[in-house]
This record gives sequence, C-alpha cells and structure tokens, in this order.
Amino acid sequence: MTQYQHIEPGETVLRDGTIKLHGEAGFAGMRKAGRLAAEILDAMAPLVQPGVTTEELDRVVREMTLDGGAVPATLGYRGYTHSCCISINHVVCHGIPSARVLKDGDIVNIDVTPLLDGWHGDSSRMFLVGDVSLKARRLVEVTYECLMIGIEQARPGARLGDIGAAIQAHAESHRYGVVRDFCGHGVGQLFHDAPEVVHAARAGTGPELKPGMFMTIEPMINLGKPHVKLLSDGWTAVTRDKSLSAQFEHSIGITEDGCEIFTLSPVGRHAPPYA
Ligand code: MF3
Ligand code: CO
Ligand code: CO
Repeated sequence: MTQYQHIEPGETVLRDGTIKLHGEAGFAGMRKAGRLAAEILDAMAPLVQPGVTTEELDRVVREMTLDGGAVPATLGYRGYTHSCCISINHVVCHGIPSARVLKDGDIVNIDVTPLLDGWHGDSSRMFLVGDVSLKARRLVEVTYECLMIGIEQARPGARLGDIGAAIQAHAESHRYGVVRDFCGHGVGQLFHDAPEVVHAARAGTGPELKPGMFMTIEPMINLGKPHVKLLSDGWTAVTRDKSLSAQFEHSIGITEDGCEIFTLSPVGRHAPPYA
C-alpha cells in the first residue's frame, strides 16, 4: 500500500518510505536548485573537449555549485568524495572523476546534484568529445528521447509504471538494453527518496502520480544487453558486455495538469550537439 504525505513548509522530512507531496514552497525551492543544476551542465558543454581530465571538470562543478550558494550533494554521500559523477563510454553511472583524459570519440555523462537552500536539483546530460561515431551519437539521441517520452507520461492520474513502460518500449524498438539495476527516485529535501522510478515497467502498474510529487527520471540505455557490473572501487557501474551506455536525467514535479521540469537548460542545451 502506497502512503503519501503532504509536506508543509519547514517540516522535517524522513526517509520513511512515504511519497512526499509538496506545495508551492517546494516548487519554488526545486526551481532554484534545478536551475543551478542546469546552469552547471550548460557551463560544461564548452569544457568537454579532448585533453581535459574528468577531475578538472569536477573542480569546475564544485566551484560553480559553491558560487551558486549550494553544496554538491554527492560530496561525502556514503563516502563518495567528488562533486559530480562522470561516466565515460561503457560506464553506466557513478563514474568517479580522476586523472583520466577525455579523448576524441568518447561519450560522457556528467551528473550534478546541487543542494540549494535544502532542495536537491539532480540532473545529468551526455556530452560528445570531438568526432563521435554515428552509432554512439544515435544511442545518445535515442536516450534523450527516452527521457522525454518518460516525462510525457508524468501527470496526475497516471501510474508510475507508465513512465518505465514508455521508456522501455522506445529503447527496445531500437534494440537497446534498459538498465534495471539503477532507478530514478523521489527527490526534494532528500537526495534519494521513495518511490523508485524504474525505467522498464508495465503500464498501469505502480503508485498513482499525484500533484506535488517530485522525482527524477534518469534512464540508462545500453547499446547492448541491460546487464551491469560494479567495479572494485565500489561505485563505477559498467556494462557487462562492455557496450556503450548513455543517460540523461531531469528532476520534475507533478502539477495539476502535467509536470514541471525543474532542471531544463535556460539556454536550450538539452542534448548534444550543444554548439
Ligand atoms: N546523481 C546520482 C543520481 O542521479 C547519484 C550519485 S550518488 C554518488 O541519483 F554518490 F554516486 F555520487
Ligand atoms: Co538521480
Ligand atoms: Co543524478
């Protein structure tokens, strides 16, 4: 049985398994945090070039987050010590910034989560490094379509499973694999809250979407099979078959008649090419 909880401004929220329903104060808070996330990702576009290291990009994310009056929610999260995740090629998610140099042909996901005035803006985009193969560019494009097709399902009265069903149908129509091991999540004053937003599901199943629900949708789509494995660093998830993987993420809120995307790029850098 799904439980919903209306959150009043200033109320302490707990990770108690309930789905939180927010009012105007929550929307205002998420709009600001989401906008900062989008601006940070916008600033990454010209920096993602052959020769840059992922730790240089992480430093820029940290500085922009702090300059924006926020803190990176990942810093110190379960022992994670970086300000974003940077996942290259066959890395599915949670790639750790390092001395790794980006090279021509790489596809890269940067995932940022500024925590601003108590609200988490969680978003990621793909970036193309130099000349990228047609099949990799196509994977990136279809993964963005998967995110937006999922978001189109997000409205009051729909079920959570409608989102995953739409994403899965689109990805599988291109014979791509939808990652099952990681999900979207409730978001807001908590980084990761109920419900789990799965990206492969049956339509008409799962909790009903209600106005005031905040969640991320963040499909990870593989050129090959859906299966992932975790590297020995305890974070980096890679495709088992070493195929390329792509991901986009938005934080959204259910409104009276649809949804609001909190992490939209104010300059239209939704998906590559960003030039
Ligand atoms: N931003 C990721 C998400 O979309 C979570 C990263 S947690 C970390 O949920 F510790 F790996 F950074
Ligand atoms: Co997320
Ligand atoms: Co994220």
